[in-house]
Parts: sequence; structure tokens; C-alpha cells
Amino acid sequence: MKKESFHKLITLVAAVGLLGVAPHARSGEDTKEPEAKDMEEAMDLMSGSLKRLRRLRRDPDRWTKSAALVAEGSQIVIASMKWIPKEIEELPEGPEKIRALADSRRLMGLTLAGYAELELAFLAQDEEKAEETLDKLKEIKAESHEKYNKGE
Ligand code: HEM
Repeated sequence: MKKESFHKLITLVAAVGLLGVAPHARSGEDTKEPEAKDMEEAMDLMSGSLKRLRRLRRDPDRWTKSAALVAEGSQIVIASMKWIPKEIEELPEGPEKIRALADSRRLMGLTLAGYAELELAFLAQDEEKAEETLDKLKEIKAESHEKYNKGE
């Protein structure tokens, strides 16, 4: 190939990349997770991925499959971070609302960290750590719902 044509090819490849036509994955993860239309649906999907873990207990490929399921669940947690709980949205503008917004972000962040810890526990085939992390996630869920999903 002539030097000039080669440069044209490189420019074209770079332009395609800049336009975002090239395939890319978010955070290096698989992106086959289902899309939720609102917070309620995202929460259902999050909870569903944790429930499906129980069914994998007797699967010979349990550790790998559980880790993959939790990685998928993490993507749903990330997606649910864009919604604001209705109970917070309805608060009058002011310091209480600002505090609640920060607190619910904190709880969502802890949930995401919990999912990552759980994935790591499955990758390490560490049953005790997995159980401990699931208990921690239940506590975070209980605190979050007590504060921001009182109608539960
Ligand atoms: C492991 C963590 C969590 C699990 C498994 C979980 C699970 C669920 C489930 C099953 C629902 C009911 C959805 C329905 O009505 O069909 C729900 C609703 C809800 N959750 Fe969570 N949740 C978690 C963490 C959180 C966190 C961290 C927050 C906020 C900081 C939160 C806030 C809410 C709110 C506001 C609703 C009501 C949504 C609506 O109806 O608009 N949850 N959650």
C-alpha cells in the first residue's frame, strides 16, 4: 500500500472511532443486561438477579455463572442511579431534600460496592464472604427502603 493511502486509511479509522461507530463496552463489561423503564422496574431486576443466585447453588458451574449474574446485576444498579426516589422528589426544595439526595446516592453507591464485593467473592469461590456480602446488601436495602420506600 502507498504511504499516502495508508495515511488516508488511518485517518478514516480514527474518524469512525471518534464518531462512536466502533463498538465499545461500558466499563469493560458485557452489555446484554435488560433495560429498565423506571426505578421500580430497575429494582425488580436488581432483586431478581440476587434471587436467581439461589437456583445456581447446585449448578456444577455455579461460581462462574453466579459471578456473571452479579456482574449483570451491577449494570442494573448503575442504571438505577439515574432515578430519584419519588418520596425524595416530592419533598419541598430545601436542606432536607438536599440531604436526602446525598444520602440516597450514598446508599446506591454502597449497593454497587456490595455487588462488586459479591462478584469478587464468587470469583474467589469464597462461600463465607458471599454470605456475608449478601447479608450486608440486605441491610443496605432495609435501610434504603425504610427511609425512601415507606409505602413498601
Ligand atoms: C440490594 C439492594 C436492593 C434491592 C434488592 C432492592 C429491591 C427492591 C424491590 C424488589 C422493590 C419493589 C419494586 C416493585 O414495587 O416492583 C424496590 C423498590 C424501591 N427501592 Fe429498592 N432495592 C435495593 C436497594 C435500594 C436502594 C439503595 C434504594 C435507594 C437509595 C432503593 C429505593 C427504592 C425505592 C424508592 C423503591 C420504590 C420504587 C417505585 O415504586 O418507584 N432501593 N426495591
